[in-house]
Amino acid sequence: MSSAHLVTNIGSLVTNSDIGDGLLGELHDAAFVMENGFVSWVGSASKAPDCDVMTDVGGAAILPGFVDSHAHLVFAGDRAPEFEARMTGEKYTAGGIRTTVAATRAASDDDLRSNVRRLSAEMLRSGITTFECKSGYGLSIVDELRSVSVAREFTNEVTLLAAHVVPAEFQDKPDAYVDVIMSDMLPKAKGIARWVDVFCDDGAFTGEQTRRVFTAAKALGFEVRVHANQLRAGEGAAIAVEFDAASADHCTHLTEDDISRLSASNTVVTLLPGAEFSTRSPYPNGRALINRGGKLAIATDCNPGSSYTTSMSFAIAVAVRDMKLTPAEAVHAATAGGARALRRIDIGHLGVGAQADFMILDAPSYVHLSYRPGVDLISSVWQVGTERYSKK
Ligand code: NIG
Ligand code: FE
Repeated sequence: MSSAHLVTNIGSLVTNSDIGDGLLGELHDAAFVMENGFVSWVGSASKAPDCDVMTDVGGAAILPGFVDSHAHLVFAGDRAPEFEARMTGEKYTAGGIRTTVAATRAASDDDLRSNVRRLSAEMLRSGITTFECKSGYGLSIVDELRSVSVAREFTNEVTLLAAHVVPAEFQDKPDAYVDVIMSDMLPKAKGIARWVDVFCDDGAFTGEQTRRVFTAAKALGFEVRVHANQLRAGEGAAIAVEFDAASADHCTHLTEDDISRLSASNTVVTLLPGAEFSTRSPYPNGRALINRGGKLAIATDCNPGSSYTTSMSFAIAVAVRDMKLTPAEAVHAATAGGARALRRIDIGHLGVGAQADFMILDAPSYVHLSYRPGVDLISSVWQVGTERYSKK
């Protein structure tokens, strides 16, 4: 039997619920109670009920755990030379993915598992309490299947991204590779992966190929998400809306029509600041999306090519500085926005009934996450009511 646990003396509590003020539902001098890993009461510290266990956080800020709705953790090797070349002027292209495919195919299951373990431990220290994890560096039936299986050992939010790029052996017959995805990979990944993603862009998959994959995926009961409009203003964002994708990710290059379509839809726009940062690309105008009513998430896009970071605080700081989000909008996008991009209502907030996933900051307010860039402000991280990481 687990007992009630009071967390109190919270200087600033981001609830992302209507109990507090503003976009973040912020409460000052707050407290909450957890029972069996879920939030059972939230309010003013002075009105908190007596509990068997109490944690006094000494005026610190508490936020819901970050929800990282876009990450590629199943891979081997790294691409530091490619990054270095880019910083001397080379352009980022989808072609670099094949370097990681070769290393991933050569790796053992245990190597892949260790990589996910290492990066997911980094994520936890960065305040991420739920993450999505994609395949996409296997690109064969066997290697995509073992990628989603390894991912599933660490998270329920697993995505089959077999349509990441066309593997070398299908170089001259991309449609035959799409056939393999549809007839073999999708049915075999059913029950392991929840999501299907397609990189719909230059050097990856066409709009028509994306539609074929999504039509087959939805017929099998998968939900979909899209790597859209990263390298150019193509069809990805429109296809995301057409297929009711949970999320259109990157959206670096959007047309006015794309913004209108996305804003009127259920599809979240997931911004990936690490990718523009690490590829020296222009940043999407997050401000314009918000002003037009778009729903935003921020994610790390952790991968060895375009964004090798697990730091959500970094992503938040860049989104504020370069995508013109306010500090509150960026924190909301990294918590409630990520949950929405995964179509989850149990995480990303700390209202009554939420899973008790949260972080305690070494700071008095969420603003410090963007105000103090590059500083590790996360002092402890809790998942389902249990402390899983403590800096001390
Ligand atoms: O989200 N854009 C496609 N996929 C990854 C990058 C993959 C890579 O370069 O290895 C991304 O940025
Ligand atoms: Fe990605």
